[in-house]
Amino acid sequence: MCGIVALVGSREAAFQLLDGLRQLEYRGYDSAGIATVDASGRITCLKTEGKLINLTARVDEQGAPGRCGIGHTRWATHGKPEERNAHPHCSVDGAVAVVQNGIIENYRNLRETLQANGAVFLSETDTEVIPHLISAELSRWLASGETASGTLLLQVVQTVLPQLQGAYALAVIWKQAPGALVVARKIAPLLIGLGEGEFLCASDTPALASFTRTILPMEDGEVALLSPLGVELYNTQGERQQRMPTLLTGADHVADKRGFRHFMLKEIHEQPEIAELWVTRHLPQGLTAQMPVALPLETSFYRDIERVEILACGTSRHAALVGAYLLEQFAGLPTTVYYASEFRYAPPPLAPNTLTIGVTQSGETADTLAALTMEAKRRRAHGDPAYAPRQLGVTNRPESSLSRQMPHILDIGAGIEIGVAATKTFLGQLLTFYGLAMAFAAKRSSRSADEISALADELRKLPEQLRALVNLHDQRCAGLAHRFAAIQDVIFLGRGINYPIALEGALKLKEISYIHAEGYPAGEMKHGPIALLDAHVPVVSIAVPGMVFEKVLSNAQEAKARDAQLIGVAPEGPDTALFDELLPVPEMSEWISPLFTVIPMQLLSYHIAAHRGLDVDQPRNLAKSVTVE
Ligand code: AGP
Repeated sequence: MCGIVALVGSREAAFQLLDGLRQLEYRGYDSAGIATVDASGRITCLKTEGKLINLTARVDEQGAPGRCGIGHTRWATHGKPEERNAHPHCSVDGAVAVVQNGIIENYRNLRETLQANGAVFLSETDTEVIPHLISAELSRWLASGETASGTLLLQVVQTVLPQLQGAYALAVIWKQAPGALVVARKIAPLLIGLGEGEFLCASDTPALASFTRTILPMEDGEVALLSPLGVELYNTQGERQQRMPTLLTGADHVADKRGFRHFMLKEIHEQPEIAELWVTRHLPQGLTAQMPVALPLETSFYRDIERVEILACGTSRHAALVGAYLLEQFAGLPTTVYYASEFRYAPPPLAPNTLTIGVTQSGETADTLAALTMEAKRRRAHGDPAYAPRQLGVTNRPESSLSRQMPHILDIGAGIEIGVAATKTFLGQLLTFYGLAMAFAAKRSSRSADEISALADELRKLPEQLRALVNLHDQRCAGLAHRFAAIQDVIFLGRGINYPIALEGALKLKEISYIHAEGYPAGEMKHGPIALLDAHVPVVSIAVPGMVFEKVLSNAQEAKARDAQLIGVAPEGPDTALFDELLPVPEMSEWISPLFTVIPMQLLSYHIAAHRGLDVDQPRNLAKSVTVE
């Protein structure tokens, strides 16, 4: 989704802004722009449609002098992805330039009022009201005798912000304060970076990581003035804030393909390492029957929990569905998974002693964050301690908004994921749910110590098995991809714990290959979707030995009888000979099967999209973290 980079310092800003924007490309965007202000107060604003290469060429050609500037990659919400709608947006006199993430919900009213006062709008965006509002307010303050300065810009922005409804992260420059940058956030994320002789601001860590490791995540509602002299940070009440910065650790904040053709492929191949890291961290030697998994949660965390509700979107929701299966079937804990976007407006009646889990790899998904906030609020309002909010966040970004909002966090530790299609973070989320299921099963004595340790032993073997599986299916799926050249629809079937994997397989394929795909519980197919089947609609069926093995095979037979090409994700053997094509998985306990069956799903989608020559890492219309509702 949209990305912001802004900086002020002692070096020319334009190419640094472009460098920062390049690190945000993975988030998905359709146009980009920068604005710089030089010492004489000249603002240069350059923007282009399409990829950053176009903007870089424009900057090379026209130049953008100045040591202070703002940059943006835009993912269209209001107005088409055209140059005039790209950010930055400027005031009529060109004195103020603004970049913004999020959505200003009351922009229509603001626009009408501004137009009535003579403002001329050049774009269809919600953002454009902001430079107009700031410029009008600056003119008033200057007319009343105030002197132009960074502090004045800060005060004016503080005056304008309460007029903006919705979610935003923004950065502003003004020609009369060429060494000042004002930034602000409400709901949408923004982080300040403290560099050497320069101060930066960005909507995501990769844009800062090549400049500095010292970061100061902004809290909700904060505004800051950045100048070559330092950073002044204020809360919503206008009180100055003093906080210690934090250090970005690890090398993974910088995007690097490590020789793979695409980030997505690299990330699929990283999954065995992630499993290994997870096993080392969470299943060390010396665990007890009372706590058979090492999670950073105190004993009191588990006390009296009678049910779980999980809020998530997209792939995270699919991981949550596997999690719900494990929590219910393995740990005996009633669990319901909600689309966070639906939960916001139709929450279920409150039940006591409920743990609410928010799952979001980015930790910035607006729907998930808002649903969690809303749930905490209505639980607090209830008054009865049994209904009090008990929340846990599962994320890959411990520095994210989710982490700051949640009392407890489980970091899935998958390292930054650049491909828009989530792969390794899905595996990390699944592993986290295995950990939680084991912990709850032990706490609630819903499984014997032997059953829990058998599951732990299987998980310990996972890294090696995954290594072999990823390599095998990388080759197999590459060989299969050409068969999908002219395919328009694919059906994915799974049952029980593998039903969410069918959903995930279909989502992956849609996202990156633009082939229509749907996942169904295999037993549901005969209730409608079977009407779609013929020789042109392949069916991918997940069939692993266990409770529903024979049932899934029968459902696959039903598809075969309608001439569908059958692709099986199943162990090799006489039972699975019915498949026209087999993507083999090893024999394993059904409990851990999703950790295996998802691998061919990911690689099949990847190779089909790569074979079609598509932009695998940045599929059209998609964004890595969806920070708008
Ligand atoms: C996954 O491939 C998608 N890009 C998307 O469905 C994603 O899972 C969803 O937007 C939720 O993102 P989150 O995990 O960052 O909250």
